Amino acid sequence: MEQIIIFDTTLRDGEQSPGAAMTKEEKIRIARQLEKLGVDVIEAGFAAASPGDFEAISEIAKVIKTSTVCSLARASENDVRRAGEAIKHAAKGRIHTFIATSKIHMENKLRMSEDQVVERAVQAVKWAREYTEDVEFSAEDAVRSEIDFLVRVFEAVIEAGAKTINVPDTVGYSIPEVWGERFAILLKRVKGADKVVWSTHCHNDLGMAVANSLSAVMNGARQVECTINGLGERAGNASLEEIVMAIKTRNDIFNLSTRIDTTQIVPASKLVSTITGYPVQPNKAIVGANAFAHESGIHQDGVLKHRETYEIMRAEDVGWGANKLTLGKLSGRNAFRTRLKELGIELESEDALNAAFARFKELADKKSEIFDEDLHALVSDEVVQERELFKLSYLQVASQTGEIPHAILTLSVDGAEQRTEADGGGPVDATFKAIENVVGSDAELLLYSVNNITSGTDAQGEVTVRLSKGGRIVNGQGADTDIVVASAKAYLNGLNKLYAKAEKLNPQV
Ligand code: KIV
Ligand code: ZN
Repeated sequence: MEQIIIFDTTLRDGEQSPGAAMTKEEKIRIARQLEKLGVDVIEAGFAAASPGDFEAISEIAKVIKTSTVCSLARASENDVRRAGEAIKHAAKGRIHTFIATSKIHMENKLRMSEDQVVERAVQAVKWAREYTEDVEFSAEDAVRSEIDFLVRVFEAVIEAGAKTINVPDTVGYSIPEVWGERFAILLKRVKGADKVVWSTHCHNDLGMAVANSLSAVMNGARQVECTINGLGERAGNASLEEIVMAIKTRNDIFNLSTRIDTTQIVPASKLVSTITGYPVQPNKAIVGANAFAHESGIHQDGVLKHRETYEIMRAEDVGWGANKLTLGKLSGRNAFRTRLKELGIELESEDALNAAFARFKELADKKSEIFDEDLHALVSDEVVQERELFKLSYLQVASQTGEIPHAILTLSVDGAEQRTEADGGGPVDATFKAIENVVGSDAELLLYSVNNITSGTDAQGEVTVRLSKGGRIVNGQGADTDIVVASAKAYLNGLNKLYAKAEKLNPQV
């Protein structure tokens, strides 16, 4: 069976979702899970965005062995050379360079003529070929580009040495029939089309990213660019789990395969959600909490009698139920370290391991069963807290019917303790007001959400806040068995990102 190349861009396009910026350590953890999942190409970032992005790609290139590690680069010499340097230690490295080809982008954004765009695209591919043979070229906004011009650009970059040609629906404008037809035309008209891999990259603005990608596949695309949970710019990208499971479940139609170990899908989804602070909606296909839940009596009865009456996939095949009860109260430091390693988590130092182990013991006292998801949340919290400017030292909240909720807290601000208190509409509101008494950020709270990491009333609550200040948006996360404490941690995590993280360049601006 012919294979579809799964190109995951969670760490690049996914990271362009508002507030989803990740640290180097977080990106490495996700990259390791993507490798375990069997992703063919990991787009690890955009090397020219910032020194931090460059370093993250470079580290990922060093640790990932089976997947190809790719960096995005605009069609400029500096970008391409940064990308080349970032992937130089990869066992398999790719440079993905792009330039816009639609009139609206060329005239208003690039202010370049068609000739200049072709010349720059060819030059970028040539610069990239100095570093690797594995060069991908994308025509940004291909969906709104004139077909004759696309043919011209693609022929020129194939001639220059591009091995993968990516056709993006940058703005999520297409519909399946039209998108498939575009591929059919390109594959027929472009000279050298049979020498390259054709790739599709669809955004979900009209909710058709997956359908459009699959239509491209039916018309000859052999690489699909996608993200875990469909994360990505605006309404997101095509979701990896939906693409993979559609190809697998409807093999009667596609007759194609992927290298994906589908049992790693749910763990990957949970990890990305925990790290980015983007919760998965319960009715999301494949990875939503209700994706395999049968509510109505008739359905339950049918499934009990014969599972296939209402199930087209098996929950365990996509990794539901794979969350292992890993450790308990009596587990030792070595067992803890070994399990973290199996999960792809490597802490920087013995001190960090000791601190995480102490937190694990505290958690095990409060919660009888500890699952992999708990460990991911615990380590995220630990790594985040270690370097933060604002840390929670103490929190006491009084909440009682008929009384005004009141929070007393002590914050450590760059090592100096400050005590404060405040009333609020509820315990979380009082806590956030008390924090603001000290920090005075004036940030706007755009989102507050609580999810349980595992089931049961003793589960850890995972809180996400989205804060906005001066045009910048960040997500903050915190986890604890006490959701008011988790809320305080999440709010502080968001503030720390607002105060500390340098802005980075968006490749498409
Ligand atoms: O959506 C898009 O066009 C992109 C390109 C950079 C490939 O993300
Ligand atoms: Zn994109």
